[in-house]
This record gives sequence, structure tokens and C-alpha cells, in this order.
Amino acid sequence: MKILVINGPNLNMLGIREPGIYGTGTYAELCRLIRAKAEELGVETEIFQSNSEGELVTRIQQALGREDAIVINPAAYTHTSIAILDALKAVGLPAAEVHISDVTKREAFRQISYAGMACQRHYIGLGFEGYLRAMEDLAADAGR
Ligand code: DQA
Repeated sequence: MKILVINGPNLNMLGIREPGIYGTGTYAELCRLIRAKAEELGVETEIFQSNSEGELVTRIQQALGREDAIVINPAAYTHTSIAILDALKAVGLPAAEVHISDVTKREAFRQISYAGMACQRHYIGLGFEGYLRAMEDLAADAGR
């Protein structure tokens, strides 16, 4: 099994970016945790980050025939991007939505998640742990 982990804009700035909201862990640390979890689960993983919507859409499309499940934190595009929602629906792979912060308790403009509409699982406000639980649950769903 191969799990694609996708991170959207500004998540490469983790550790520097608003630490009161997103914590002090860096993007490199997040990637290390994801790789360690994949090893523990006996699955392969591919990690992708982009600040641009089109690149995120293209990478989701490329998952078809290449990966078996998607963990995605679309960051700000969560709340705006119908293109990412459509891409997730187009490939139809099992998908989990992750948000480091608890978006349900934040600004009104963060209350809609388009991408989340194409995800079967949701991990909101659990910090980096959300990515790891998403991987565990997607692997379990696939019988791993
Ligand atoms: C985020 C929440 C989004 O609202 C925000 O735009 C982000 C990160 C999170 O992980 O908490 O960039 O997706």
C-alpha cells in the first residue's frame, strides 16, 4: 500500500508560522514523523507540498494508479478550492482531511471545507498527530 500525503500553502513554514496556532514543530519534523509512521505500518509513503493550487490538483490527479490513499491538508485552499474537491472526486481514492488547528473554533471563513466533502475521514485540531492517525486509519481501512 502507498499513501500520498499532501500539504498545501504555507505548511512548509511550520515552526515559524504562527506557532501559537500551529505549534513549534517544523515541516521537516512533520515529514520525519510521517515517514516513521509509514515504516511502522509497513506501507510506502510519498510526501508532497505546494503553495499553488494547480500543482496540488495535478499531484492529486497523478495519484491515480500510483498511490492507494490520500492524506490531505489543503491549508487555506480547504476553504476556497472547488478544483481540489473535484480532483479528489475525480480520482476517487480513499481520502482523509487533516487540519493541525481546530478550524471549527476559528474564523467564519474557515468553517467551510470543500476538500473535506470528498474525504471519508477528518482529523481536525489534533496537531501533527492528525496525519499519523489518518495514515493508521487509511491503512486499517485497506486491511493493513
Ligand atoms: C490549516 C487550517 C487552514 O484554515 C489554514 O489556512 C492553514 C492550515 C490547519 O492545518 O490547521 O493554512 O489547514
